[in-house]
Amino acid sequence: MEFQDVVRRRRMVRDYAETPVDPAIVDRALENATHAPSAGFSQGWAFLVLDRPEDVRRFWTAQVEDVDDADAWLTGMMRAPVVILPCSSKAAYLDRYAEPDKGWTDRDEARWPMPFWHMDAAMAALLILQTATDAGLGACFFGVFRESEVRREFGIPDRYDPVGVITLGHRVDSSGAAGSPTRRRRTPWTEVVHRGQWGHQGSPSA
Ligand SMILES: Cc1cc2nc3c(=O)[nH]c(=O)nc-3n(C[C@H](O)[C@H](O)[C@H](O)COP(=O)(O)O)c2cc1C
Repeated sequence: MEFQDVVRRRRMVRDYAETPVDPAIVDRALENATHAPSAGFSQGWAFLVLDRPEDVRRFWTAQVEDVDDADAWLTGMMRAPVVILPCSSKAAYLDRYAEPDKGWTDRDEARWPMPFWHMDAAMAALLILQTATDAGLGACFFGVFRESEVRREFGIPDRYDPVGVITLGHRVDSSGAAGSPTRRRRTPWTEVVHRGQWGHQGSPSA
């Protein structure tokens, strides 16, 4: 698929067929994730991959209070055969930037204008979503609802924070519970671009 098509066609998918996913596609998505940019090439990410039905079931049991009381969103999402939790490690960034070529040996968090550890994991997550689209699959990024339960169930160490969850699978026609785009319009890019000066909008050709 052309890159422009991957970008434009990607949508969060919230309803899946139970058909298994080719493991090679999951591996490709994970390998692509590690090609995301990262501050100082810290690569302080990790990915918890759940691709066996029993593990996916364990995830949902930890993630929601009552899996047997599922609404349309949960019913569609729970069918996804693969669940990936991208995780970020602040400690990995503090360690990396204390190395000689960076030199922030005080490990002072005030030096960080943004939590780059979360940003980098999010960039990696987007590559997983785009790889799914490229492979003709569906995927959805969403939050960890019950973090301590999920951490405990899968032994996620303190050094890592799950930044979210990605479901991955074959989309079904309905594509699932209505997402916000059914209720909101996409803001035209010209409305969010400030060219040359904040408040100056549009493209040079406009
Ligand atoms: C940080 C983040 C959190 C999100 N959380 C949820 C969520 O909890 N449930 C959900 O269904 N979708 C969630 N989404 C998906 C957004 O609703 C979706 O990206 C947005 O409506 C735009 O739709 P699109 O991605 O299909 O273009 C999340 C997306 C992001 C980036």
